[in-house]
Amino acid sequence: MSLKEQIKQNPLPKHIAIIMDGNGRWAKKKGYLRAIGHENGVDALRNIATASAEAGVRYLTVYAFSSENWNRPKTEVTALMALLVSSLRKELKTLTENKIRLNTIGHTDSLPKKCQNELAEVIQKTSDLTHMTLTLALSYGSKEEITDAIKTLAHQVKTGELNPDDITEEHINQNLYTANMPDPDLLIRTSGEYRISNYLLWQIAYSELYFTDKLWPDFGAEDLYEAIWNYQHRERRFGKISEQLNS
Ligand code: FPP
Repeated sequence: MSLKEQIKQNPLPKHIAIIMDGNGRWAKKKGYLRAIGHENGVDALRNIATASAEAGVRYLTVYAFSSENWNRPKTEVTALMALLVSSLRKELKTLTENKIRLNTIGHTDSLPKKCQNELAEVIQKTSDLTHMTLTLALSYGSKEEITDAIKTLAHQVKTGELNPDDITEEHINQNLYTANMPDPDLLIRTSGEYRISNYLLWQIAYSELYFTDKLWPDFGAEDLYEAIWNYQHRERRFGKISEQLNS
């Protein structure tokens, strides 16, 4: 039985988060410009998004541009923003055909106007699609997200709308950019780096972490199935002991 068929026999992760790392190194290894690495990164993202939707994953959240990525050389930032616009234009068809709804998290208001307009259009055109939600984390930083949530709650306390002693985890959940999304079951990072890099810090409290040496442009459907297979063969105890789970 193929890996693809095998993973369909067991419960799938409902939400997969990915840190797509290694575009630059992939390009360097081949003697290409970094921008070519990012272009191939978009191809990998298309493959993984369609394979995820086809397998039955409901949420895929990918780190496309971090708050810290603004510090990269201006030429690279410009190339990434141009790539974002052209990819959104090209991929609307892929999203529609695979019934994938586009969503974003992060300070997208810091992106160039052209990116904001293109994002708004694709988000609107895919808003009724229900097979899978693809969330692009853009100008995203988790500490920033948590700080924003705290500010909102602090304002509610100030106006008397909320009593500080009544604050629960649910208040925090509902004020994160990911409000109404389940937490990721599985977080994948490519390129042999073992870091979280300010990604979904609150939301991954109980996620299974999967690291692979594959560089993002080389990460294909079979690699995704392998990560899912690995996830399915772990025991998620959520603080309990094995015997409690099996009884
Ligand atoms: C990490 O590789 C990748 C990124 C910072 C961007 C990821 C973007 C895409 C896959 C394209 C889709 C997104 C947009 C915004 C068009 P790296 O450059 O950090 O690689 P390196 O660590 O090898 O240098």
